[in-house]
Amino acid sequence: MNTDTLDPHTIQAASPSDTPTPYADALLHYAARDTVRLNVPGHSADPHAAPELAAYFGEHLLRLDVPPLLAGLDKGQDNPLARAHELAAGAYGARRTWFLTNGASQANRIAALALAGFRDTRQPVIAQRSAHSSFSDGIVLGGLLPRFVQPSIDGWFGINHGVSPAALREALHGLPDEERPKGIYVISPSYFGAVADVAALADIAHEAGAPLIVDAAWGGHFGFHPDLPNNPLHLGADLVVSSTHKLGGSLTQSAMLHLGHSRFADELEPLIDRAFGLTQSTSESSLLLASLDIARDAMQRGHDRIGAAIAAAEELRDKIRNGGRFAIVSDTFERFPDIEASDPLRVSIDVARGGVHGNTARELLMDRDGIYFEIATENCIVAVIAPGVVPDVDRVVRALHALPNDPNVRTEHTLDALGALPAPGQLTMLPRDAFLSPAELIPAEDAVGRVSAIALAAYPPGIPNVLPGEVITHELVEFLQRVAATPGGYVRGASDPSMTLFSVVDAR
Ligand SMILES: Cc1ncc(COP(=O)(O)O)c(C=O)c1O
Repeated sequence: MNTDTLDPHTIQAASPSDTPTPYADALLHYAARDTVRLNVPGHSADPHAAPELAAYFGEHLLRLDVPPLLAGLDKGQDNPLARAHELAAGAYGARRTWFLTNGASQANRIAALALAGFRDTRQPVIAQRSAHSSFSDGIVLGGLLPRFVQPSIDGWFGINHGVSPAALREALHGLPDEERPKGIYVISPSYFGAVADVAALADIAHEAGAPLIVDAAWGGHFGFHPDLPNNPLHLGADLVVSSTHKLGGSLTQSAMLHLGHSRFADELEPLIDRAFGLTQSTSESSLLLASLDIARDAMQRGHDRIGAAIAAAEELRDKIRNGGRFAIVSDTFERFPDIEASDPLRVSIDVARGGVHGNTARELLMDRDGIYFEIATENCIVAVIAPGVVPDVDRVVRALHALPNDPNVRTEHTLDALGALPAPGQLTMLPRDAFLSPAELIPAEDAVGRVSAIALAAYPPGIPNVLPGEVITHELVEFLQRVAATPGGYVRGASDPSMTLFSVVDAR
């Protein structure tokens, strides 16, 4: 799409065929036609019918917001949406790509549901224990039997990274035939930009006869510039989850799922397609779909924009290092056996070392300086420099160095201070059965030995400590109460903030 000629206030008619953004252009063409719309959406693209929406979003957006199943857009043979899918598959090296309108969360649920129908129902799925909650939800939805492999943990920062090839090999070692996994799920890159050795993980998965699913929610830009890590599909992953709206530049909630040219593809493709139908709205948003088409094209042509963002991120890291007060978290990555590379567009800063807690730093930078960091932990703040973004690095560095410097800020809330993570209790029910069972809330002291009805994850480091179907242990209760009692710690899924109550399966 030629954005030079695109005036957001006037609808441009565009040729719907042979363009690099077929769906987006066809949508523009459709919106430009002189029509009387007597169909949904309810605003009918009529600024008089919906003056509030038109005033807020502009008339242009209303005209582009169209329902599905329109000839010339997404209906019939070789329609523009189908061509947009093919172009995306080509760009990412996929056999097939699905455009999703409910985020990478939907992609993870689709992946789990597809695995439910793949091979024998009794075969387990091996998942990184720190799987995103949407994959755990998929385990519940699909009635999967999970087995877990631990990611590496940085106790100092209280964060988790990825799975090393050795850890995956160990998890697979000596499994009897009936326990061989039907699929393996890992995350790469991590929230902090740590990239796992996907090629080695894929080899190990394939030796075990299982497809490798890579949750690359944070890596939608990978492979589009020589200084970025490679796209997991090019490294042997069989199915790749991409949260395209994160660093791929599409609108929030749009995402893609890519099926590789894999030896499992013939079996997986119809299962994924059915799971897609089960999870996608029957009124998928034309705005989100068009944004995926445009973002993919921009990424393919984005060499210079990506390069500029990488240079800005590098400048930010260098200036922070040279300042001497803070440190860069990725400079410590070589200590971890799972980390093969890092995403240059993530800048994770150890601010506790400079006398300010991560959450305080993030809030002050927002309130005082109008500088928004993506996330904060107790010790760090993390910046995402998206392709095309060249921030005012000096302003950021100045604001960082103006943060209060309290020599008493220590790293006592990291995992090192909290002690080792307790081993998960035994899985005695399928997560789905436990999740759907009647549950009761009982005092912590009575919960030991009972089966959890829900997932609980202590932060730091955000790894689920218990999942539905697992037995609650004494060590688990103690650990969760200890985390809940620290000022920076909290337990996701907790029924009460101090963890005095647990939700367990009602066995009566
Ligand atoms: C590893 C991982 N997978 C999946 C998701 C879900 O992505 P989305 O927000 O697009 O649904 C996230 C969200 O942060 C994530 O971090």
